[in-house]
Amino acid sequence: MKTTVKKTTYRSATVADVDGIFKLVNGMAESGQMLRRSKYRIVTMLANFIVADTRNGELAGCGALFPLWIDSAEIVALAVDPRFRGTGVGKGLVQELLQRARRLGFPEVITLTYAVDFFSRLGFSVQPKDKFPRKLWRECLECPRLEDCDEIAMSIRLGESPGGGE
Ligand SMILES: CC(C)(COP(=O)(O)OP(=O)(O)OC[C@H]1O[C@@H](n2cnc3c(N)ncnc32)[C@H](O)[C@@H]1OP(=O)(O)O)[C@@H](O)C(=O)NCCC(=O)NCCS
Repeated sequence: MKTTVKKTTYRSATVADVDGIFKLVNGMAESGQMLRRSKYRIVTMLANFIVADTRNGELAGCGALFPLWIDSAEIVALAVDPRFRGTGVGKGLVQELLQRARRLGFPEVITLTYAVDFFSRLGFSVQPKDKFPRKLWRECLECPRLEDCDEIAMSIRLGESPGGGE
């Protein structure tokens, strides 16, 4: 399924996007903004990823929805190419991922992030990290910052989002 917002197309990722996602995510990881991911990891998560294409077919951003359990899914690897920041691509990606979560029937979506104001504008609110033990037992165990994680946990109950519209 495709959604087009302001000349940007949001669509499911394909194998043709793997290299672009790899570069984007690991570029952010180098500056400490997110967890590094191997190409193998990206391929195995490919069905969870969406990408934003510009009108010229450039990869403007990516993000993935990862089910944690039947009560929640997590937004991971949300990254917008610095050239396209501030143009609504991040918001479009989150809205598309929230729509996918709704269609799949998840009542709650969580994220661990440094971009608190960005997610607040989209209807997420800050939560105590220990509210999400399933998250901790998944990717966090692979993270070098496991013991001193400074990311902020946020969540949204679906149907209550001002920015995540249907
Ligand atoms: C955070 C990020 C995804 C935002 O993407 P973006 O495309 O620049 O954001 P948008 O243009 O869609 O902005 C949507 C709204 O959030 C605001 N916003 C964007 N980034 C923000 C930030 N860091 N802090 C506060 N507000 C922010 C915008 O002003 C805009 O507000 P508006 O709707 O009132 O106009 C992008 O900066 C990024 O890739 N950062 C590095 C990786 C990261 O932090 N990922 C999230 C962690 S999972």
